Amino acid sequence: MGARTLHIKTFGCQMNVYDSARMADALAPLGFVSTERADDADVVILNTCHIRAKAAEKVYSELGRLRRLKAQKKDRGGRMILGVAGCVAQAEGEEILRRAPFVDLVVGPQAYHRLPRMIVDLDRSAVPAIDVDFPPESKFDHLPEFGAASGVGAFLTVQEGCDKFCSFCVVPYTRGAEYSRPAGDVLDEARRLVDAGARELTLLGQNVNNYHGARPRTFSPSRPGSAEWGLGRLIAELASIEGLERIRYTTSYPTDMNAELIAAHRDVAKLMPFVHLPAQSGSDKVLSAMNRRHDAAGYRRIAEAMRAARPDIAFSSDFIVGFPGEGEADFEDTLRLVRDVGFLQAYSFKYSPRPGTPAAAMADQVPERVKAARLMRLQELLGDQQMDFNRRCAGTVVGVLFERRGRRSGQILGRSPYSLPVHVEAGEDRIGTIAEVRVIRAYANSLRGRLEPGESNSVIPSATMESRAEARP
Ligand code: SAH
Ligand code: F3S
Repeated sequence: MGARTLHIKTFGCQMNVYDSARMADALAPLGFVSTERADDADVVILNTCHIRAKAAEKVYSELGRLRRLKAQKKDRGGRMILGVAGCVAQAEGEEILRRAPFVDLVVGPQAYHRLPRMIVDLDRSAVPAIDVDFPPESKFDHLPEFGAASGVGAFLTVQEGCDKFCSFCVVPYTRGAEYSRPAGDVLDEARRLVDAGARELTLLGQNVNNYHGARPRTFSPSRPGSAEWGLGRLIAELASIEGLERIRYTTSYPTDMNAELIAAHRDVAKLMPFVHLPAQSGSDKVLSAMNRRHDAAGYRRIAEAMRAARPDIAFSSDFIVGFPGEGEADFEDTLRLVRDVGFLQAYSFKYSPRPGTPAAAMADQVPERVKAARLMRLQELLGDQQMDFNRRCAGTVVGVLFERRGRRSGQILGRSPYSLPVHVEAGEDRIGTIAEVRVIRAYANSLRGRLEPGESNSVIPSATMESRAEARP
């Protein structure tokens, strides 16, 4: 059989981006090549998000559009296999086939290694395939090794699932129990990604800072230490991979920010000084109703400890406004926490009741217009903080890792240590390397810079630049 085409549309978080790439890897041996267009693809998969009601509803409107494409393809004598993967698939299962009977395949996040088998079966029969198991075997052991070329920045899942059960959140139900991949597997995958062109790795997990993976066999039994590695240890080891320039990780839970990881921010130059640390609220009453394991003072203490270890560290965060029972004074506490800690960037959401979660059944649901008004106030404050931070960058010199061509010709686009996009006039041969850049203009979401003198003629090996740009006393 010749090449068939596969189109995967990804919604939601970075882990879904990683998963979509792995699904494409898994289907490549069946002869599938990826295409940007759904129109006449042989297999179309929606990799979905269930976190808020709006995210889940998007899936059904997208399915309506695909239904027409599928019918058109049939009229032309072809067949389009239409699949739903991700957290909506996990949460709704058979319900998807009831609401959208033209769907052929429903597969949950823990069953992706079974996807090739499901497609082979579908080639032979028209009976819809559904797999929303939490299989005893780990998909990571059965998915093929990462195959394609990598971009400069790559994602690597090291941990998946969540046992925290925040009362508003569907993730523990859709992604399942916490699981950490063995450290040796992570190191192998990281080396492959770097060989394929990656210069920056973002380690992913729903509770990534609670990572505790089995130590690689090569490190035991003669070396001291426990049978498992925490994230700090893993990062220290990843940092020794030649060619890898930058390491990030997301998403962290405040009380899992342990001493070893905080020390890594002090000791590992490749670990970027920018951490996503969701607070959700600044009110102790609300945090307790959310079943969070930290109060506002605890969050402040953790942020301070990290700043002590790495003074130039910056934080991003997630906030929910209008959680059931949130009064005006509680919301003011959130604004105060934001002012006290100071965030470079943050995502904020109106509370969205999710079926099956404890908070959805709580009394004192907050009216929509109150949520909307609070969200506006919070976003205004967060926007001001972000603009202030960017303005303070103006005139300074930052290390920029170049990722790709810019939209304007002669321009390339990279990122600062704080992940801010930086536009610079420079040759494309710099893509994949780090250079020192003077920030000449700050915008709300990006910076514009100029290569520092001495940078303009030739490409300097990036490792040297990194240690110079990032060197601290
Ligand atoms: N640690 C997780 C967080 C998952 S959800 C991870 O990275 O995978 C991302 C953010 O969505 C949460 O931090 C929370 O702020 C928000 N969120 C989750 N459930 C929500 C709900 N029911 N309503 C509104 N926002 C929600
Ligand atoms: Fe969700 Fe809370 Fe876990 S936000 S992913 S239940 S830490």
